[in-house]
Formats: sequence, structure tokens, C-alpha cells
Amino acid sequence: MSQIYRIMKNEQYQPYMVERYILMFGEEKTLELLRSFQKPPVPSINVNTCNISIKALKERLEAKHFHLEPVPWCSTGFWIYDAHEYEKKMNPGMVSQFQFSPGATHEYLQGMYSMQGASSMLPPVLLDPKPDDDVLDMAAAPGTKFVQMGQMMKNRGVLVGVERSLDRVPALKANVQRCGVTNSILICNDSRHIGEQFNGFGKILLDAPCTGEGLIGSDPTRKNSRSVGDIQTMRDIQVQLLENAVALLKPSGRMVYSTCSLAPEENEFVIDKVIQNHKNLAVVEPPKEIAKHFDQGLVQTMGAKFDPSLKNAIRVYPYHHPTRPEGFFAAIIEKMEKI
Ligand SMILES: C[S@@+](CC[C@H](N)C(=O)[O-])C[C@H]1O[C@@H](n2cnc3c(N)ncnc32)[C@H](O)[C@@H]1O
Repeated sequence: MSQIYRIMKNEQYQPYMVERYILMFGEEKTLELLRSFQKPPVPSINVNTCNISIKALKERLEAKHFHLEPVPWCSTGFWIYDAHEYEKKMNPGMVSQFQFSPGATHEYLQGMYSMQGASSMLPPVLLDPKPDDDVLDMAAAPGTKFVQMGQMMKNRGVLVGVERSLDRVPALKANVQRCGVTNSILICNDSRHIGEQFNGFGKILLDAPCTGEGLIGSDPTRKNSRSVGDIQTMRDIQVQLLENAVALLKPSGRMVYSTCSLAPEENEFVIDKVIQNHKNLAVVEPPKEIAKHFDQGLVQTMGAKFDPSLKNAIRVYPYHHPTRPEGFFAAIIEKMEKI
């Protein structure tokens, strides 16, 4: 316990955060979590296979002294290292000192890949949009998952992206243009209130706005910029967004709900609350070859009990892989035609 409190003090965590981790995960996992937040994540890229093959991009990046290592849960995802450092076999968890940034190559600017966290690749992989699907992304900016879905759809079908913040639309637009996502429609609106203009969607991604506790390792300001009150505020918005996602999802349709928060209030609680209102919804099992890398969703925590299907959700903790993925939550929700 003293080690936990030493890290809490030295790293300037708000006590409520650490106390909650101990309640949710126990002391051993809390210590592991806090230690892994101290290590910066290894950057990763997602190859835009609409613009270049994986083999050709690897050759081009290797010629620029990058080394790529596959992300096991995403066939187009790779961790990217400076090749010289990688060869020296330094601590694989440490961040490479690049000669130049992988976000400033010709290949990046030509839309051959995106810089994307390895955890953030999960929701599109779980939603699995296919060419000719009709897909809605309800919280789209800055667009990494939107672009990933466009490339999975091979730029066919319809991909609608909605973003409420006008300030964040230019980044979304720039990513869509850079990567050439030609099957896309972008709308600046509040996804809690959209609906009448659409006929429903077969697949929906709700990568919900959240407190972002899972990002503490890459953005330490998250330790102090949020409060317990923010968790409650976000939870209420998330429930409203998910309720509208249910209304927009066609019968037999699937959606993925995800956040970069570890708080059950923003994850299991939100889904449980909405499932209670709709008997035709359930959290379904993710593919085993993906789930095996992570923890299951919580079915009870801090005195609350959730729908048993929530065990099918995925919880990503930063200690799940030596590359230090960011903390993340994702769940596939299915809308059954009949109950
Ligand atoms: C977690 S970020 C999404 C990241 C994005 N999916 C990606 O992969 O690049 C959440 C986004 O939702 C937007 N947002 C927040 N409330 C919203 C609402 N009511 N309707 C639509 N978008 C919203 C935020 O401005 C933010 O850009």
C-alpha cells in the first residue's frame, strides 16, 4: 500500500482516483496500473490499405530507418520504432527517439497511414464494417477510427460521421481528405438529437466523449483536469448518446460502444442502464483471438451489479502489453430483431 501512496504523491494523482482504483481492481492491479502509466506508450500506425499495401509501406518505412511490429489485434496496425534503437534491443516498452517524427513523412502526408494508438484500433475491428455497409460514427473527430472504417469498407457503402464541436471538424476533414475516404459524409451536429434525416444504420460506432483516464500515460494533465463530478456529467451524456444510437440502429444491427476511460460509470453502467430500457439488446462476445489479449468487462463493482452480458465487454489496461497500450473499454452491442 505504501508504494501505491508514494506513486500517488510523487505523480500528483488526485486521491479519489487511486482510492477508486483500489476499490475496483485491488492493490496489486492498482500498483501495476500506476506503474504502467509512468511508462510512455510506444507509438503505432494504421496502414491505409486503400492507398498502399502493407508490404510496400513496410519497405518504404524501413528505408527511412523505422521498424514495424504487428499489433496482434489489428491486421493493419503496427507499433513503430526507430530501427537503430530497436536493433540495440533496448527496453521494448520505451519510446523510440526518432530521427524524425513518423507523423511527418511523405508517406504519412500522402495518406498511406495514420498515427493511431493500438487500443484505439479495437472499436473498428470489433464493429467490422464491410464494403457496402451503412455505417454511422456518432463522435467522429479527429477521425482516426472514421478513416480506419473507411479503409475497411474499401471506400464503398456509406460512412456518416457526426461531430458536435465545430472546432474539431477541420482536423476530421483534414484526415478524411489526407487518407482519401471517398464514401464519407461529415455532419456537424449533436448526436443526441440526430435521427429524422436518416433511415437507420446497420452498424454504429459510438466512441463516446469521456473523462479519458485511460490516457494518463500520454497526457498526464488528465490526472488533475477532471473530478468525480465530471465522471457523472459524462455518464449522463453517454447514456443519452447510447439511447439515440439504439434508436438509429436497424433491427439485427450491431454497434460498438467505446471510451478511453477506465471508470465503470462511463462504461458498464452506461450500457447496463440502456440495456435495462431495451429488452432486445445484449452485449455479445467479441472474437476470441481478440478478447484473449485483454480483460473482460465488469459485472459487479463498488456495490453495483450489471447485466451478465457485460462480461463480454473488453477492458484494456496499460499493463496488457509491453508496448503500454492506453486504457480503453469497448463492447459490441446487438439489437435483436425479436425477443
Ligand atoms: C473520444 S472523441 C472521438 C475520437 C474519434 N472517434 C477518433 O477516433 O478520432 C469524442 C468526440 O465526440 C465529440 N462529441 C462530444 N459530444 C458530442 C455529441 N453530443 N455529439 C457528437 N459528438 C460529440 C467530441 O467533440 C469529440 O470530438
